[in-house]
Amino acid sequence: MYILGISCFYHDSAACLVRDGEIVAAAQEERFTRKKHDPRFPENAIGYCLEEAGIETNDLAYVAFYDKPFLTFERLLLSYLTIAPKGLRSWLEALPAWLGQKLHVQKVIEQRIGYEGNVLFTEHHEAHAASAFYPSPFDEAAILTVDGVGEWATASFGFGKGKDITLLKELHFPDSLGLLYSAFTFFTGFKVNSGEYKLMGLAPYGRPKYRDLILSEIVDVKEDGSLRLNLTYFDFIGGRRMTNDRFAKLFGGPPREPETAITAREMDIAASIQSVTEEIILKMAWHVYQETGRKNLCVAGGVALNCVANGRVLRDGPFENIWIQPAAGDAGGAMGAALSVWHRYLGNDRPNPHGHERQGGAYLGPAFSMNAIREYLNENGYPYRELDADSRARVIAEKIAEGKIVGYMDGRMEFGPRALGARSILGDPRSVETQRVMNLKIKYRESFRPFAPSVLEERISEYFDMDRPSPYMLLVAYVREDKRFPQLSGEGMSILDRLKMKRCDIPAVTHLDYSARIQTVNRKDNPNYYAIIAAFERITGCPVIVNTSFNVRGEPIVCTPEDAVRCFMRTEMDILVIENCILYKEEQPSWEEGEEWRHDLILD
Ligand SMILES: [Fe+2]
Repeated sequence: MYILGISCFYHDSAACLVRDGEIVAAAQEERFTRKKHDPRFPENAIGYCLEEAGIETNDLAYVAFYDKPFLTFERLLLSYLTIAPKGLRSWLEALPAWLGQKLHVQKVIEQRIGYEGNVLFTEHHEAHAASAFYPSPFDEAAILTVDGVGEWATASFGFGKGKDITLLKELHFPDSLGLLYSAFTFFTGFKVNSGEYKLMGLAPYGRPKYRDLILSEIVDVKEDGSLRLNLTYFDFIGGRRMTNDRFAKLFGGPPREPETAITAREMDIAASIQSVTEEIILKMAWHVYQETGRKNLCVAGGVALNCVANGRVLRDGPFENIWIQPAAGDAGGAMGAALSVWHRYLGNDRPNPHGHERQGGAYLGPAFSMNAIREYLNENGYPYRELDADSRARVIAEKIAEGKIVGYMDGRMEFGPRALGARSILGDPRSVETQRVMNLKIKYRESFRPFAPSVLEERISEYFDMDRPSPYMLLVAYVREDKRFPQLSGEGMSILDRLKMKRCDIPAVTHLDYSARIQTVNRKDNPNYYAIIAAFERITGCPVIVNTSFNVRGEPIVCTPEDAVRCFMRTEMDILVIENCILYKEEQPSWEEGEEWRHDLILD
């Protein structure tokens, strides 16, 4: 039996196909349309999922949608009525979309993919909870979901056992940790619903000097981690900005304009809101533990992408194990909705996973055959050589060790926002220069954030204070004490210069505070990627490489060989590997494209 899950119309639309409870395929629409965070109906992603399984729309037993649009509409309407006539304009702007598509999901699905059967709707946090628990390695676990908002809920908790999920309590709009973090994302000049990651990355530069102010003025945090926002500082109900003038006054001036210099104020604000967020999540975690008595925790919802907070929960929280859904944001709702129909609605058993998760490294997207790749490269005149299986890993590792930057595309594309070695750009972590080149010549940005390390799973505790896998780059851990170099204070230095100071053997992947967003790689989930890192270790003694997503700023991660070649040719990447084909930049024809494409790069 096939069940298709869909999430769309807010941000990060996606589709996921489940066959008899097994996840067959999942992808985000942005990868196909090349429009980052594309919220439109995921026609391409659905098409891909059906193709992967070799089925047609008629073969679907159910379609599941990850949200109850009428409840969300009710929330928007009631929120508007509480502040009317203020907010009328934004309300009128939103209305046509609601009347046109959002309230008629069933009809849209029928029209767009010709599916005439029943569409089932899960609640938004139910979908998040299902995406957190069902693919997890636990037979039994507590569940915590935290995001901006879905219908009314902004956080929920409960527990899962076997095929059953019981949600015990919800926190409701407008009291939302996700919206609080997004408000600070807006105020510090980053893009809401995508720049949250940057705000988190900025935090180690600052001191949490506004922490007490935030806790006394902006948000009232209870012992159980529930919270109340002081709405006199916000403008997100009916307004078109996240924060208002009162908020600005509290932080000594207007919001930072995007793309302008980042000052000490923004760094201190980032450190402060990050600290508050960690405190809230930690309190939530303790409360969930007390209420459920479970030793394992599953997490999803956009806030679960805050890997620094996740690391904190693991270190300072009560749970023995944590599993975080890698597509923690709304894209993962498509998976949760489909699994929820299989287990909760249809009552199908969930076999005891015995510690083995069912998401298989999140490699759930399209792959391309060697024949398709050869054909594309031949037809378009890109010279390449073919690597044989025996020397593939060694050749790639040697190039990385020489300081070359390698675009790497292999196997099925990742589901979720992080590149995990299927659509990644790889480099040498031992050199500070890697970071500079990757940022300026490849990503076309000057980032204050370090890149992430991919490390052999069994070697993690040699470098980092962590003793368990982090396959999805969703846990932050610190470089071990004995691997650190003493550091200057950095006082008076520019933000980028501070990042360039050599802190340890692997400076390109560690932050100022010695933290790293770790991806552990094991042989089972991604044997080819594992082999490259292992070969790199044989050459250099270092079981770590730099892994950043295969894209330029503002662009979705590449999906097809064509996307990969375009990104390779436009940038100063040295080498491109697609499956077993290797392309050297110096052997390629000149790239016929003006600089105009750079103007299309949107802010990310
Ligand atoms: Fe959500």
